[in-house]
Amino acid sequence: MAGAPEDPPLDGTRVLLGVTGGIAAYKAALLARLLVQAGARVDVVLTRGGAHFVGAATFEGITGRAVRGEVWEDIASGTHVALGRAADVAVVYPATAHTLAKLAHGLADDLLSTTLLAATCPVVLAPAMHTEMWQHPATRANAVVLAERGVVLVGPDEGELMGGDAGPGRVVEPEMAFEAVTTALAARGPAGGRDLAGRRVLITAGGTREPLDPVRYLGNRSSGRMGFALAAVAAERGAEVELIAAPTELATPPGVTRTDVVTARDMHTAVMARRRAVDVIVKAAAVADFRPEQAAPGKLKKDRGAPAVTLVANPDILAELGTARGADPRPVLVGFAAETDAVEEHARAKLAAKGADLLVVNDVSATDAGFEVEDNRVLLLDRRGGRAEVALASKRTVAERILDAVVVWLDAPEQG
Ligand code: CTP
Repeated sequence: MAGAPEDPPLDGTRVLLGVTGGIAAYKAALLARLLVQAGARVDVVLTRGGAHFVGAATFEGITGRAVRGEVWEDIASGTHVALGRAADVAVVYPATAHTLAKLAHGLADDLLSTTLLAATCPVVLAPAMHTEMWQHPATRANAVVLAERGVVLVGPDEGELMGGDAGPGRVVEPEMAFEAVTTALAARGPAGGRDLAGRRVLITAGGTREPLDPVRYLGNRSSGRMGFALAAVAAERGAEVELIAAPTELATPPGVTRTDVVTARDMHTAVMARRRAVDVIVKAAAVADFRPEQAAPGKLKKDRGAPAVTLVANPDILAELGTARGADPRPVLVGFAAETDAVEEHARAKLAAKGADLLVVNDVSATDAGFEVEDNRVLLLDRRGGRAEVALASKRTVAERILDAVVVWLDAPEQG
């Protein structure tokens, strides 16, 4: 019976194993064996560099399947797309500095890189290279880009390297890579990681800008990273994602439809126009509560003295969504709260006042989390009195936890 405890842990799982050109390529044979023993169907893609270190016959013997190497073989069957789509998880062991660079930039010049570009499954990379290469700013930057995109980097370890060197750069042992593969698979959840398939999710992100004159504005410190992480993760989990973004330098995550706005009023118009078309609205944007009553048509000149600026209230988009929805459970409304004191008490009051279902609470008095930093720590409150703390983690991980709560809410709104 499938899933019975005596079944091997990866029974029927399709694993794509990429082997690139490092001396550690010989250890990939051991990883292939661990995967096969656990019941996985393993497709090995051996790059030209990898083939210098270990032969295809070794992997064919272990996996019982043909090893692929060239993108130009078997063009008609679209090998790279087929392999990428079929995989439940991909692991590159060892992953050279060049491989990291190619994947970070989306280059696709051989079968492994084209396959990984076509794959939507979790990807695990086990970097292996000389210490200087691992510590080079280019490699560091590539590793950060990949991690932000959700790629799992396992290792490298510290130890003996090729040519008698020693230091960080040694590939992790096959057992460790095997564990990273099983963890990445488990993290996809019961629906194979696509628990938002068929859901339409609208996310707002970034800080709005309220013009004072043609060159100046009132703004805030929101970077947009939390909202963009939510958009990326929601799309990966199968949602149709619309992102309404206030000005930010961030790149649009793959598969996300983006609309750029500048002011709170632009955002208000864009959100209200879509509110009936979506299942969930996540208001991660930091919306200016006030705007200058009038933006000066020309640049304000210093020699005319300090201008008197009158501020007027902007629409409260979330509160308006709450009111417009009334007793209707859709769209599920997720708000954010930035608080500095009596955090939980103020947040509970905000949740009720805005008529939201879930509130993601940031304590913005903390310096290691929240605005302009990579990590975040939040408190999740729901309308029924539930609370959960998400410990300091990357904004992607926090996004995963927020969306877990959204999925629960989508599945049981009638209890609200
Ligand atoms: N929000 C909104 N429209 C506004 C102000 C805020 O939709 N004009 C949304 C934000 O996107 C966020 C939530 O309301 O999801 C709470 O934002 P926050 O700044 O914490 O609260 P405010 O309502 O502005 O209250 P205060 O500044 O007094 O804490």
